[in-house]
Amino acid sequence: MRIRKFRKEDAAAASRIVKNGFQINNAPYYGKASIKEQVEANSPKNLIEKAKKVKYFVAAEKSTILGIGGYDWQKVHTLFVDPNWQRKGIGMKIMARILSEAKKDGIKHLDAWSTFQAEKFYSDAGFKKIKKFTLECRHSTIDFILMRKQV
Ligand SMILES: CC(C)(COP(=O)(O)OP(=O)(O)OC[C@H]1O[C@@H](n2cnc3c(N)ncnc32)[C@H](O)[C@@H]1OP(=O)(O)O)[C@@H](O)C(=O)NCCC(=O)NCCS
Repeated sequence: MRIRKFRKEDAAAASRIVKNGFQINNAPYYGKASIKEQVEANSPKNLIEKAKKVKYFVAAEKSTILGIGGYDWQKVHTLFVDPNWQRKGIGMKIMARILSEAKKDGIKHLDAWSTFQAEKFYSDAGFKKIKKFTLECRHSTIDFILMRKQV
């Protein structure tokens, strides 16, 4: 398994992982409307569009995509691991790549909008909890935990 830069051809598989992550891992915490909107926001087309501003990486085993995650100057974006492959260190490997690349870019600190399911993961990665907040989306609202780490 290696962590490499996201390519357009990864979008369909990465989008499926985000969908499964929301529907499987986050179903206990969020309503159906919030999950639906987040899944749509991470369609293959939208991921390709977002990748113009966000530096995304994927975890890949040969041609199979197992996880995705990225960052911009402000925050970590879309860190998801295929539910069948979680708790094997893949998320932390994507995070390590994000942090090392952000450091090379001269970024001093990164925020994360953590789902409730991912709070322990981010705290293990050295992020400190700042506050819970509610994001107003077009058709729904969704609660996240704002977390921050010095890079
Ligand atoms: C959060 C997420 C990316 C973690 O990916 P992962 O590959 O399973 O994480 P790792 O195996 O690298 O875990 C590293 C450590 O984080 C912590 N951790 C990870 N998942 C956890 C969970 N579900 N519950 C509690 N602690 C967890 C553990 O301490 C773990 O170490 P351990 O397995 O030795 O105990 C994954 O659970 C996921 O895709 N979740 C759904 C999507 C999501 O909500 N992402 C956050 C968007 S902001």
